[in-house]
Amino acid sequence: MSRRFDGRGVVVTGAARGIGRAIVAAFQAEGARVVAVDVLPAVAEVPGVEALVADLSRPGAAGAMVADAAGLLGRIDVLVNNAAVMPDGPLLDVTEAEWDRTFAVNVRAVFFASQAAARHMVERGGGAIVNLSSANAVRSESPEAPYNASKAAVIAITRSLAHELGHHGVRANCVAPGETLTPEEAAEMSPGDRAAEREYVRRIPLRRVGRAAEQAAAVLFLASDDASFITGETLVVDGGELAGDWYDRSQAPSLPDHIEGLDESGSDPERTA
Ligand SMILES: NC(=O)c1ccc[n+]([C@@H]2O[C@H](COP(=O)([O-])OP(=O)(O)OC[C@H]3O[C@@H](n4cnc5c(N)ncnc54)[C@H](O)[C@@H]3O)[C@@H](O)[C@H]2O)c1
Repeated sequence: MSRRFDGRGVVVTGAARGIGRAIVAAFQAEGARVVAVDVLPAVAEVPGVEALVADLSRPGAAGAMVADAAGLLGRIDVLVNNAAVMPDGPLLDVTEAEWDRTFAVNVRAVFFASQAAARHMVERGGGAIVNLSSANAVRSESPEAPYNASKAAVIAITRSLAHELGHHGVRANCVAPGETLTPEEAAEMSPGDRAAEREYVRRIPLRRVGRAAEQAAAVLFLASDDASFITGETLVVDGGELAGDWYDRSQAPSLPDHIEGLDESGSDPERTA
């Protein structure tokens, strides 16, 4: 049976851990050849990929990374801009250095990696770009002002890509995750963090956090021919959190004793590669 990405060349940034690593595994399971990019040397341990260690916060790094990836793959059919930094701190204390660092990785690298990949895709007659935004782009989470702004910028960049490049057969879309507990985050959680996360789950109608594999499934859908008439769109994957809130939170259904994805300790049930 043919798979959705048989023989296709895919580049995933921020692929050493978390959602990026799940995206790599999902593309591999569907037949793709993957270049996995990260600032962490651990990206070299991701099985079955061509690994590139690159610090995408540096000027010029995103374009150079795409050129290297094109050399390794021969063709780039899909680019997934997943790498991001997520600093937090009160808005009144944010420094210009923190703002610049956040925008260097989360916005500048997304734009210039997309530009470089799009040039290549235009030459080849098409391709798909999927950018990781966040539910925070729509509903601010505090205290994360620069991050929230950066993720709104990612949506705007994606719309420009879709609008200017559609006639070349290049599609661009966003996945906007809600609260998604990656295996690494679960492993690093203190009991206090875990209690806060349980409290957070009260806002999520599906009564659990998201899994990295569920974000990856949305990315693959938007990158695939199944989404051939979808471009410029943002798919929110948040268990219904943005759908609404209780006027009186005490009326919300009580939390289950066991919350899937949160109460599984640091084990890694979803890693497939
Ligand atoms: N986990 C969530 O709940 C959640 C929610 C909303 C949006 N997102 C988005 O999903 C994406 C993945 O999130 P995650 O939770 O897996 O994060 P993560 O921190 O686990 O992974 C991010 C990866 O990006 C890499 N990276 C950071 N700076 C880099 C740089 N300068 N150059 C190259 N690589 C760099 C990191 O090393 C890391 O491997 C991000 O874009 C994030 O904003 C995540």
